[in-house]
Amino acid sequence: MQDDRAGTVSSDAPARQTAVSPNNPCPFLRALVAAGFVDGHVVPLSKLTRTIETATGERGLKERLAGLKIYLVALVANGLGPLRLLRSWWSGAELDALRDGPLDKHGSGSRILDATAQVNEAELARLAEFGKDRQDPSGGSERGLTAKEITTYMDANFDRARDTRRPIDRLLMNGEWPILLRIMGKGEGEERYLSVAEVGTLFVERRLPDRIAARRRSRNPRREAAFACSARSRSGPSHSPARRL
Ligand code: HEM
Repeated sequence: MQDDRAGTVSSDAPARQTAVSPNNPCPFLRALVAAGFVDGHVVPLSKLTRTIETATGERGLKERLAGLKIYLVALVANGLGPLRLLRSWWSGAELDALRDGPLDKHGSGSRILDATAQVNEAELARLAEFGKDRQDPSGGSERGLTAKEITTYMDANFDRARDTRRPIDRLLMNGEWPILLRIMGKGEGEERYLSVAEVGTLFVERRLPDRIAARRRSRNPRREAAFACSARSRSGPSHSPARRL
């Protein structure tokens, strides 16, 4: 059986995850696909936008602005030619064909996932080096990166790729790690941090923290059971077709 980290489900993967294509390099989208919240192939832009908007935990105007940015990113993610843009607008984003698209930084990013979606543990350990031990609001302490440390990390990644990077790559990073901090971070203000352990779970197990399920619960109690089931046990039947977040 193939390694779980190549994007297929292995014996140590959470049971009944939807397999994720190695050509989907986004850890966040990989988790949404694995949980069955969106399809792994073509996802209408409105569906993708709504699903991610909900996960951001924003409300009102902030939620709409986040949604607009997500829509635009998804619109261009598979290519910038007029026909491709028309297809994306009409049918949706192809999540299993993101690799080598305009958003693919080809190694200017974290390099935690390689070109075949295998997790590089050494790169996860490197991420941790940019953080410090933090007080977990729910008790104990853990390694995490604040916004400042994430900026230093992204600068270092960009610097490391100086021979191959495109100028836009640094800009693209601002829509990745800082947004992940906003969604999954713990604590408030300057102290808010991204837990290294949770980033590891996201990349390795393709799983978002249960807190996001709780956020979803307070937003829409009716869908609580479905989301909580997927986020925790994954012991039910395979999630296909895609369910709503
Ligand atoms: C709020 C939503 C999202 C978050 C939090 C997020 C977060 C991330 C993160 C943390 C990375 C890893 C970068 C690295 O390894 O250095 C990434 C990569 C990527 N994301 Fe997302 N993402 C989001 C939405 C999207 C959407 C909507 C698309 C396109 C449909 C997308 C496409 C990609 C691609 C293609 C990469 C690979 C870039 C590379 O080569 O490093 N992401 N994302």
